[in-house]
Amino acid sequence: MDERETAARIAALAKERGTVILAHNYQPPEIQDLADFTGDSLELARKAAGVDAREILFCGVRFMAETAAILNPGRTVLMPDESAGCPMADMIDAAALRALKAEHPGALCVCYVNSTAEVKAECDICVTSGNAERVMARFPADRETIFVPDRHLGSHVAGLLGRRYVLWPGYCPTHARLTADAIARARAAHPGAVVMVHPECPADVRAAADQVLATGAMCAYARTSPAAEFIVGTETGILHRLRRENPGKTFHPADGCLVCPNMKKTTPQKMLESLETGTVRVEVPEETARKARRAIDAMLAAS
Ligand code: 13P
Ligand code: SF4
Repeated sequence: MDERETAARIAALAKERGTVILAHNYQPPEIQDLADFTGDSLELARKAAGVDAREILFCGVRFMAETAAILNPGRTVLMPDESAGCPMADMIDAAALRALKAEHPGALCVCYVNSTAEVKAECDICVTSGNAERVMARFPADRETIFVPDRHLGSHVAGLLGRRYVLWPGYCPTHARLTADAIARARAAHPGAVVMVHPECPADVRAAADQVLATGAMCAYARTSPAAEFIVGTETGILHRLRRENPGKTFHPADGCLVCPNMKKTTPQKMLESLETGTVRVEVPEETARKARRAIDAMLAAS
């Protein structure tokens, strides 16, 4: 079957099964083109919460599909490749978080959405990079606050709000590869271009950028900014959406090394197999899902 036949078969099967296809902004171009909706973690969580379909085929990484499953107890959520995980989400587990909470009794416990369902179940509220500042600003400045697992997003928000958080030393291995030197080289190669980086980047990279934005906010910023040229400091999959939405503007990757191998595991062939076989189902145990839903619902209500 060639690419066009595969795409046509995916569309026909999705229609027949009542499946909506959601894709993260980091997915390969051909996957974004097959999706009904492409967005950042917050946009996808909102979409999953309001979806009017029998089934969701989630093209992204496991914590995103889990979030969709938690928000849709009555619906089937499928992942084309169940091995697509997020190494940062796996840098803390529920037992380690419980131990940290025991060291800080009474502290507010906040997790980045890039976390497992078990970790979310231990938290008061969850945030995405797109709403973290807005959500965290609602809590009193003097309330002790634990933030897991991303120390970079945590320190970024703490800096914006002038607060101190108890941080877990987690990080994204992909964004950790971006250096301030690479930003300087990209600026020298493209003078005048606006530098946008993701808050998962290390502090010196964030300081070297013009804008620190979640992926959805990068798309909105590129659309509305008068600038015509951008250096993009996040996973390179987003370049497809940026270029498609802004045909008159130019986008350069800050560094070609910004590729998340897990985000690249989805292929049209695997999507087709998922729809043909109704696998792989993403299931979260009921009790874990019930507790994790409280943290996700608190976030959706606050953002
Ligand atoms: P966004 O929420 O900005 O899409 O980021 C998700 C992610 O995994 C970043 O590495
Ligand atoms: Fe996780 Fe980083 Fe990949 Fe995002 S880019 S899914 S944080 S490993």
